[in-house]
Amino acid sequence: MPSRRPIVFGNWKMNGLGRDARALADALKGQGRPAEGTLGVFPPFTQLAAVAERLAGSGIVVGAQDCHEAAKGAFTGSVCASMIADAGATAVILGHSERRHGLGETDAVVHAKAQAALAAGLATVVICIGETEAEYLDRRTLAVLDRQVEGSIPAGIDAKCLVVAYEPVWAIGTGRTPTIDEIGQVHAHLRRKLIGHLGEGGRSVPVQYGGSVKGANAEAILGVADVDGALVGGASLDPAEFTKIFTAGGGRFAAPGS
Ligand code: PGA
Repeated sequence: MPSRRPIVFGNWKMNGLGRDARALADALKGQGRPAEGTLGVFPPFTQLAAVAERLAGSGIVVGAQDCHEAAKGAFTGSVCASMIADAGATAVILGHSERRHGLGETDAVVHAKAQAALAAGLATVVICIGETEAEYLDRRTLAVLDRQVEGSIPAGIDAKCLVVAYEPVWAIGTGRTPTIDEIGQVHAHLRRKLIGHLGEGGRSVPVQYGGSVKGANAEAILGVADVDGALVGGASLDPAEFTKIFTAGGGRFAAPGS
């Protein structure tokens, strides 16, 4: 994973029929190759191969939103990491709060999925962590994040394959965000924690902020010292808004054809 800032990923969640996915991919590709920073999209499984094919050679990362922890087998309805790679994708989001809190996914499961993803040859795992509103109000944010880092991120992981996304659960899809100061404090803490957990490699692991990032707040959030990028949900479905977040954070496209 190129570590140059900003690293802006769009999580399409359960959105995107074929026509929408093709239009979104084409609109992003039409901007030209990302020349400064890294851009990526995470469509639903049904659109993964089509989007990967459309974006092949564009310099835009394509990934899935989850994978199963087993390499294959009798797991009806599930998709394993080698299937994701086979579809042409190179990355996967793991431990998103909608899976942790909506589907009961534990740190141990996220840890196992990360190992499965890397064993299958995916280049990048994006591991999401974040506190609930009750934990935030209780001032337990840092303790919760520490537990999630220790439990979800394999200590032996190659740091070059890892992106961490800090996403306060209460900021996702709500239009609310922590203050810029709070985001700065959490990210500074996470940097120290990642160095403690992974050793020197933890110094270069990109840490994204996610939760209600829009064109209007991107410059302020992505300007925070330890914020290396953004994981974007709703706003990633609008190519103009998504592009605005990327460029507000210092991203730049090469002119088409160059
Ligand atoms: P949001 O979602 O940008 O719609 O708040 C972020 C996410 O869930 O990754």
